Amino acid sequence: MSQLKEILTKDGTISLRSLIFQENFHSLEGAKKETDLKFINPSDLKRFKNKSLNVLDICFGLGYNSASLFNKIIRQNTSINWYALEIDNKPLGYALRNKSFQKLWHPKVLKIFKSLYQNSKYKDQFFECEILWGDARRKINNIPENIKFDLVYLDGFSPQKCPQIWSEDFIAKVIHTLNHKGYFITYSSSAAIRKTLRNLGLNIFNIKPNLISKKLWSNGTIAIKSIDSIIVENNLSFEKLSPMEEDHLLTRASVPYRDPTLNSKAKDIIQKRVQEQLKSNLKTSKKWRDKWGMTKQTLGS
Ligand SMILES: C[S@@+](CC[C@H](N)C(=O)[O-])C[C@H]1O[C@@H](n2cnc3c(N)ncnc32)[C@H](O)[C@@H]1O
Repeated sequence: MSQLKEILTKDGTISLRSLIFQENFHSLEGAKKETDLKFINPSDLKRFKNKSLNVLDICFGLGYNSASLFNKIIRQNTSINWYALEIDNKPLGYALRNKSFQKLWHPKVLKIFKSLYQNSKYKDQFFECEILWGDARRKINNIPENIKFDLVYLDGFSPQKCPQIWSEDFIAKVIHTLNHKGYFITYSSSAAIRKTLRNLGLNIFNIKPNLISKKLWSNGTIAIKSIDSIIVENNLSFEKLSPMEEDHLLTRASVPYRDPTLNSKAKDIIQKRVQEQLKSNLKTSKKWRDKWGMTKQTLGS
């Protein structure tokens, strides 16, 4: 735990701060609240009532996203085939020792998490789960080729702090594992990540903010290969990109992160991108911010 510091967030749930990445695992507004708003609500889990579901959770951390997901599907007779990618098992160890974390979930969620911590696997009649410990860029290759996911969560540290898991090259691999009608969900609304997803041929949507405020215009991004218009129109959590968001994709902020060897260091990925931005003919993001009355703080990750 020496490089992880405990944090209490405003909804009363605990989280961690990484002293290495210099970033919190969750928004200070609330770890559980963030999970529900940005990952669980947009997943529209009632679609899978009495059915089966394949899920990939990238950057599992303490496991809020999957704990919340498991908590819901336990109550609706859904069976799940689940994989997670995570480089560090200390956040899960910490979560399992923490009383306030334990109180949030159905006992079965904790039973599954204990098994993942001890054996990296869990299996029963409804749940088949495996966590692959190590760098997600390599471990993603261990997921069987025939599995296509209905939901993929990408919840890494921000692209500027951890560009390794946001490169066009890594995201292309992730998208390869996504079902045609599956949802790729991330909290990031950065132009670079949205442009990357669009370059890969996906339809992208904004996860609606909970408050109608210029300060908070997004709770993230959903990307879908092939849209089922009825389901998409009925989903209250996401919407088409606004003209302001579309315009963001025409700026230098939309230059993707690149990591063709999938083993570059963070600083090399960032440096290469800065060079590419300097050479680019795209307008600067300052022009975009001035046009739409944005400050750097309103942009998020
Ligand atoms: C923002 S936190 C994840 C929060 C998490 N979803 C939760 O509910 O606690 C980012 C996580 O990414 C992990 N991580 C960082 N680089 C990684 C990599 N290359 N491969 C896999 N996991 C990585 C960190 O160890 C950390 O647990």
